[in-house]
Amino acid sequence: MDFSTKSADKKNSLQTIKTDCLAIGIYSNGTLSDATASPALQEAVAKLYATGDIDGKAGSTLLAQSPEGIPAKRLLLVGLGTNPATEKDFRKAIDACIAALKPLNAANILLALPIDTIGNSIPQTIYTVVTSFYNKSYQSDVLKKNKAPASKIRKAVLYIPSDKAAIAKKSLTNAIAINKGRQYAKDLGNLPANICTPSYLAAQAKRLSKDYGFTIEILEKKQIQSLKMGSFLSVAKGSDEPPRFIVLKHLKGKSKEAPVVFVGKGITFDSGGISLKPGAGMDEMKYDMCGAASVLGTFKAIGELDLKQNVIGLIPTCENMPSGKANRPGDIVTSMSGQTIEILNTDAEGRLILCDALTFAERFKPAAVIDIATLTGACIIALGHVTSGLFTRMDDAHDALAESLSKAAKHADDPVWRMPVEEAYQSQLDSNFADMANVGGRPAGSITAACFLERFTRQYTWAHLDVAGTAWKSGTAKGATGRPVPLLCQWLLERQA
Ligand code: BES
Ligand code: MN
Ligand code: ZN
Repeated sequence: MDFSTKSADKKNSLQTIKTDCLAIGIYSNGTLSDATASPALQEAVAKLYATGDIDGKAGSTLLAQSPEGIPAKRLLLVGLGTNPATEKDFRKAIDACIAALKPLNAANILLALPIDTIGNSIPQTIYTVVTSFYNKSYQSDVLKKNKAPASKIRKAVLYIPSDKAAIAKKSLTNAIAINKGRQYAKDLGNLPANICTPSYLAAQAKRLSKDYGFTIEILEKKQIQSLKMGSFLSVAKGSDEPPRFIVLKHLKGKSKEAPVVFVGKGITFDSGGISLKPGAGMDEMKYDMCGAASVLGTFKAIGELDLKQNVIGLIPTCENMPSGKANRPGDIVTSMSGQTIEILNTDAEGRLILCDALTFAERFKPAAVIDIATLTGACIIALGHVTSGLFTRMDDAHDALAESLSKAAKHADDPVWRMPVEEAYQSQLDSNFADMANVGGRPAGSITAACFLERFTRQYTWAHLDVAGTAWKSGTAKGATGRPVPLLCQWLLERQA
């Protein structure tokens, strides 16, 4: 689907633009959202409003013939509620608008809606509109023989006041790139573990690097061994699928500028290992690579926008399986950092692969390292499926990082909630036989997981995003969400600005 903007001027007005369907906002008092509408259009809408067939409440729509003098083939009135529209009403309205357009044989549509509603901001509102289109048209049927018919909409044109044309255009470009990245992350997440293996993720990363000109290195088992990533390898060795360590680089910032490093957990299937998970819902552990997918999705967006920044993506990827070669509870492994780890539960494998990637990240002298992981069920207990957990140390530098991430999260409608990484939790990881245990008991499970990672991140500024509750949906709506791609992209954009 194609998006573009058209700004209102003498040449382009609702009286001259040809379209299969003109969707125009109407408030609950009957007035149009678009001030440039002609008297003829306003009169026609007043008549429709008078019939009582549309009350202008958010979520209501009415399809009508377009009046004399309007070249649009159809007119779709979209209720916006009060004037100005609230954010909630606007979201309702755009969703209703898309649902009303769906059954139409309209390839080309023109959207005349108030374009600065969300956060009183044009970028946020355009992002909301574009995201709704992407989300509503997403189909997870690549592996179905019988596919649902694709949406007929080919081209959506946003009608913009002429003085807002430049910002609208830029916002649209950003919104499309973010959604493309997000969709890519969803597609990868939804693939089953027998297809989306570590080698498959590596091949996808290679493809991305070809498409967008990233530098890429894919380390195989031998190279991972030479790096002494003993913790990562201990998880990988239980599976017949060979591990990969993916290094993606987009270095388009100033040569001396310290890079941002994203680290994504890439467990392509988490059975729990010898500490086997219960059977119910275990299929969802194919989503345990959603952190990795979010790094790849963010890189896709970076490539689409050709961001002038230095960004590095690290993905340790393997399976967590039970076998004769798998980690046993009680095993002690040596991480790349030299610190030893007593594996008391083989199901706490995410931290075991991430810790070595976090040590590897030191070599880039990063401005910040952000890891993204479906790390703990405890994070779901704490925050549910609404906000992702944001974990950082509690000093000034990290407060600033947490703040900038929280802000970007809000702007991208991809919310996070900050959790404490306090020294006082660290003793829960004490081990009698190694430098640390890999589990800290039931209390504050998502925090002790973050505390474990924290021990490997003391050379740089670091944030950890636990997306266990937000990276995918369960139940009848089962599917990857592509989160936190919007947050990461928005954060990069705001960093640049
Ligand atoms: N991938 C899981 C976390 C997870 C569980 C995400 C359920 C989403 C839904 C992770 O590897 C894991 O198994 N964590 C354990 C840690 C525990 C053994 C300390 C957990 O959360 O139960
Ligand atoms: Mn696990
Ligand atoms: Zn896991």
